[in-house]
Amino acid sequence: MGRADTHLHTEYSGYSNLGVMKFPESVTTPAQQVDKGIKNGMDVIAITDHDETRGAFEAQKYAKTVEGIEVIAGEEITTADGEIIGLFLTEKVPAGLPVEETADIVKEQGGLLIVPHPFSFHVFALREKMFDVDFDGFETINGGHPDKYTNMFARMVMDRYPGKWAETASSDAHSLYTSGTCWTEFEGTTAEEFRKAILSRTTKACGKPASVFSQVQWSMNVAFGGQKLLYKSLRGTLEQKEDDHLVEKIESINRLKKATGMVAATAYAVPPIPFLATTLSVIYLHRGAKRLIPEIPQRLEGIDEILRSKGKLR
Ligand SMILES: [Fe+2]
Repeated sequence: MGRADTHLHTEYSGYSNLGVMKFPESVTTPAQQVDKGIKNGMDVIAITDHDETRGAFEAQKYAKTVEGIEVIAGEEITTADGEIIGLFLTEKVPAGLPVEETADIVKEQGGLLIVPHPFSFHVFALREKMFDVDFDGFETINGGHPDKYTNMFARMVMDRYPGKWAETASSDAHSLYTSGTCWTEFEGTTAEEFRKAILSRTTKACGKPASVFSQVQWSMNVAFGGQKLLYKSLRGTLEQKEDDHLVEKIESINRLKKATGMVAATAYAVPPIPFLATTLSVIYLHRGAKRLIPEIPQRLEGIDEILRSKGKLR
């Protein structure tokens, strides 16, 4: 059986807010993510940056120079209705469109449609809107969801309609700390065999989400990584790699903002802050799950109803 981790991010993944500063979501390079995939024992990985495919194509090119891994070009596309993943893409899919239109573009490219963390309550998930498109599979385990609700509910939906969709598990890693915690098992070892396994609904979701603490490690990794780049930029020693969008972005901000960013990153890494961040996240996730779990039976019936009305349930 082969292993595939098909939801991974790199430094091309865009920005998130950290206090007053915008920090990159990831400071991991495509090559680093490929090397980690090999170390993790993956036969296949997919780079699925937010609304971007540059990192995916770069990783694909790099993987050809090393042994033992294949890279699928993917994208985690922010549609108007929630996030969806396109795999086996040949070009970037535009963000912000209705999910139906996005699905058509992915299919026109011969791609597969996978719904990431479909029932998440803490990221922009498609939820029941997913049933408006003919997706191929969804994540029953997403490594970025250590809460007690999201993955459990996805598993219940998958088990309710056996053989209807393919199950996947992905680490959704934005750093090397969390890469490889989850993977999809499939018959074979190549990307093409992975595609076949998805289409024949024979995949198996394996692994478990990364701990909340390792998610905080990722944010510290981003803070320190960002800080290092800001420092180099202030000193004028930041290497200008051709077409490196992280470097471009860092160079474009003014000196005051660079200095403020460095202070913010340092404050973030002072001992009580990461632990406080971990504790607060655990409390938030626990509360969300506690609120949503009682609604599960009703929500499952609602899904039956949606599928029946679309003629997708016999
Ligand atoms: Fe993601």
